[in-house]
Amino acid sequence: MQKLIINGGNRLNGEITVQGAKNAVLPILAASILCKGDIMLHNCPRLSDLYSAMRILSSLGCSAGFDGGSTLCVNTDGLSSCDIPDRLMREMRSSIFFLGALVGRTGDCRISLPGGCDIGQRPIDIHISALRKMGVTVTEQHGEIECRCEKKLKGAKISLSFPSVGATENIILAAVLAEGRTEITNAAREPEIIWLADFLNLCGADIKGAGGGTITINGKKELHGCEFTIMPDRIAAATYLACTACTGGEIILKECNPRHLDSVLSVFEQLGCNVGCTENMICFGAKYPLHSIDIIRTMVYPGFPTDCQAFVMSAACIAQGTTVFVENIFENRYRHAEELRRMGANIRAEGKVAVVEGVKKLYGAKVSAPDLRGGAGLVAAALCAEGTTEISGLNYIDRGYEEIENVLASVGADIKRI
Ligand code: EPZ
Repeated sequence: MQKLIINGGNRLNGEITVQGAKNAVLPILAASILCKGDIMLHNCPRLSDLYSAMRILSSLGCSAGFDGGSTLCVNTDGLSSCDIPDRLMREMRSSIFFLGALVGRTGDCRISLPGGCDIGQRPIDIHISALRKMGVTVTEQHGEIECRCEKKLKGAKISLSFPSVGATENIILAAVLAEGRTEITNAAREPEIIWLADFLNLCGADIKGAGGGTITINGKKELHGCEFTIMPDRIAAATYLACTACTGGEIILKECNPRHLDSVLSVFEQLGCNVGCTENMICFGAKYPLHSIDIIRTMVYPGFPTDCQAFVMSAACIAQGTTVFVENIFENRYRHAEELRRMGANIRAEGKVAVVEGVKKLYGAKVSAPDLRGGAGLVAAALCAEGTTEISGLNYIDRGYEEIENVLASVGADIKRI
């Protein structure tokens, strides 16, 4: 089993070019099922989740392969099945996007409930009720989901009970080839949804309002292929800022989109960091001691993202004073707290709330990543801990970060993978 070995204490210093966004490329790969002809996706990150999505595409008879760099070439004209094998569905949460895409293209789909990080129940009731409104017969039993739609899907007016990112994306995927108009209200506003809509519109779809609370889609007969560049990963960017904050370092993030990080940058400024932004760059400096923040609440976009909670908590662990976190999005997203306590952190987590009392320093320990972003939080903590930290559970970390040890070593971290 692979591990990261980190000797803490080095201040990060240098430049990082941010990887392409995992949560943008995954729904776009599913969307490729709706398009006829060649698709070229530039700036794709090499992540295990992306390889899982490529395995799903090839199990459906489609082709997807890297060109040697970060460009992924996809063609789904050979689609020959609507069934996704259970073992592939369980590899990641984003396999659920194939539901909307397969139903959108063929009307049929058989999948099992998706896998993914254990950060909560992660039901798909909002996805299912929306598909039913569009005329899809959905039967669920023993963890298997079967969708059938004799005729074409029908556009519908769909109001989401919660602005779910995945449900918003799945409805868009089901609606672009449906008959008539679909209107989604209380839609999620995450930037990845704008990128999905931009991709599909470039392929000939008619989607308006992505990024806002109301999105309308006018169904088309057919979509063609296109060439598209994936947006920078805002969560990976925030992760490297947290690593810099923890070590009191200075970095420049290149090819990132500061506008996607407003709420996160304001939290880092409250922690006492200096932030300077241009159109596609963030200049970031931190100095000890970090300041605590009264309350950090995770919210839907554009609020403070739940995906940033874990690694900002690591910075709060060594800040002066007490920081309270309230996790409003997922019900089980403090599993990293237990591991941080092994490193000397003072955290009490109960339900949605975690109280972090800043300590003078953290100490190296043997810890295990409980999930993707929790693992990133342990990396950030290890970089400022005294001594050596061993982090296992890299299968989680590799789902969302492309060569995290090389990126951090390039700005001075003492980190290696064994
Ligand atoms: C997406 O997950 C992201 N994943 C998550 O990132 C991110 O944390 C999350 O959005 C919130 O921003 C991808 O884009 C692949 P949701 P998703 O549907 O779509 C409840 C990472 O680390 N809900 O917005 O699963 C759900 O239980 C990952 O990169 C229902 O109740 O998130 C949760 O409490 C982790 N019923 C809340 O909504 C539903 O049908 C938000 O879920 C759907 C969701």
